[in-house]
Amino acid sequence: MKFKKNILCIGAGYVGGPTMAMIASKCPDYRVTVVDINPERINAWNSHDLPVYEPGLDKIIKKTRGKNLFFSNNIEKAITENDIIFVSVHTPTKTFGEGAGKAPDLQYWEKTARQILENSKSSKIVIEKSTLPVKTAAAMEKILAPAKGKIKFEVLSNPEFLAEGTAIKDLENPDRVLIGSRDTKNGLKARQELVNIYSRWVPKEKIITTNIWSSELSKLVSNAFLAQRVSSINSISALCEKTEADVSEVAKAVGMDSRIGSKFLQAGIGFGGSCFKKDILHLAYLCEYYGLPEVAAYWESVVKMNEYQQQRFITNILGSMFNTLAGKRICVFGFAFKANTGDTRESPATYITRKLLAEQALVTISDPKALKNAALDLADIDENVKYEEDPYKAVAGCHAIAILTDWNIYRNLDFRKIYKSMIKPAFLFDGRNIVDHAKCFKIGFNVYPIGKPAMSHFKTTQKANSNSR
Ligand code: UDX
Ligand code: UDX
Repeated sequence: MKFKKNILCIGAGYVGGPTMAMIASKCPDYRVTVVDINPERINAWNSHDLPVYEPGLDKIIKKTRGKNLFFSNNIEKAITENDIIFVSVHTPTKTFGEGAGKAPDLQYWEKTARQILENSKSSKIVIEKSTLPVKTAAAMEKILAPAKGKIKFEVLSNPEFLAEGTAIKDLENPDRVLIGSRDTKNGLKARQELVNIYSRWVPKEKIITTNIWSSELSKLVSNAFLAQRVSSINSISALCEKTEADVSEVAKAVGMDSRIGSKFLQAGIGFGGSCFKKDILHLAYLCEYYGLPEVAAYWESVVKMNEYQQQRFITNILGSMFNTLAGKRICVFGFAFKANTGDTRESPATYITRKLLAEQALVTISDPKALKNAALDLADIDENVKYEEDPYKAVAGCHAIAILTDWNIYRNLDFRKIYKSMIKPAFLFDGRNIVDHAKCFKIGFNVYPIGKPAMSHFKTTQKANSNSR
């Protein structure tokens, strides 16, 4: 079959894979190829066991793979054959040299740009899908400038706003699609090519076009604002615990103000995931670079509050369990950084589990999708860790439960059965406020939610509050 357009994506990760699957599904007349330097990733994309767990992804891959969606290792050939190239390689935080711990590591990005230059025999549109510091497109244009003869490159910015766990839903029905370009004849023409792709399924009014720098910056700012809301409500959860206010009630009251809105006000053990921390640190670094240290400090405080929230959770466990965890078995419910994903990158569970192990606790981890990644993350220190998918088996013989991920299955477990199988006094630390605290307290648990009064059988002054869920 002859395809109308040939589209390539370099980087077959959490963003590149699902995004290209959606484009292939919505544009059956386009040929979509996804390449990656990691052959195992590509093999997994070509197998039944996809490298990324996302609700709905299997179905869409089944529909398109081998028809107009292809996964390959041959990056050079793919660059030569395609005219529209998305780049979705990762941009982690630098671990070395100038800006270590803050600045983005752009080496993969630059290598990819050079690879595009070397293997191009015709003009191409290169699209930044990865989240990048504002002005990266200028560097990209410089790298691509020495192209031979009539070959021209047009760089666009088209950041991805999908969230893990809801990636397919977000891609199918996005709040907006953002496309940034140069305001030149060729820039606008390239932009239109991309608008044509998205307008196959996204309403025109949701496709917004901006200058390229606004587009690059908007992605960093969107993530920073979302993370800031989580840190804001978490900071208030600490105050709630001191004042007998209930953070869920406060969040509801505050969020019903339509100027504020109700989303991203769920207090917990802090945000995780590959983006929030990295993007805020990159934003702060940019501010410092441009001589704005006050602005940098403002955004850095969002990350500091997140670290404080995780530390607070551990301090609370330790204090409540008589200041010693040595030899006690703690069952961790959920290791993924959020529900409906197997991803554990920057998961608060990693930090919390490591702290529990440092206190010489014995840890059993249960998670429906993330056990494989959990074992990789803890490989260096997991001699006192057990992995067990079944929550009932995992919790038997434990002193305490720590709920670290908001998986739905944990909301409606048979906590009576669980309580019976545990060592007494049994403790329940609900790091996501997802279970019925009053009910668990009545069963016999000592219950410690986030941002709500603790319900402990040791104190006569604190009683179960039936409205405290
Ligand atoms: C990444 C970035 O982290 C995010 O900021 C950006 O918005 C989109 O790309 P994600 O898809 O979650 O997000 O990253 P990851 O799952 O690590 O995928 C990146 C892929 O690029 C990996 O499979 C990696 O092997 C591949 N890669 C990396 C290349 O193909 N070439 C390289 O030179 C480097
Ligand atoms: C985020 C952005 O939402 C997405 O637009 C961007 O493209 C990538 O980064 P993601 O990291 O996949 O997506 O998940 P998100 O739903 O934003 O959650 C991030 C973290 O915040 C999770 O650890 C989650 O548990 C936490 N969170 C979220 C809260 O603690 N409370 C909330 O109210 C919302």
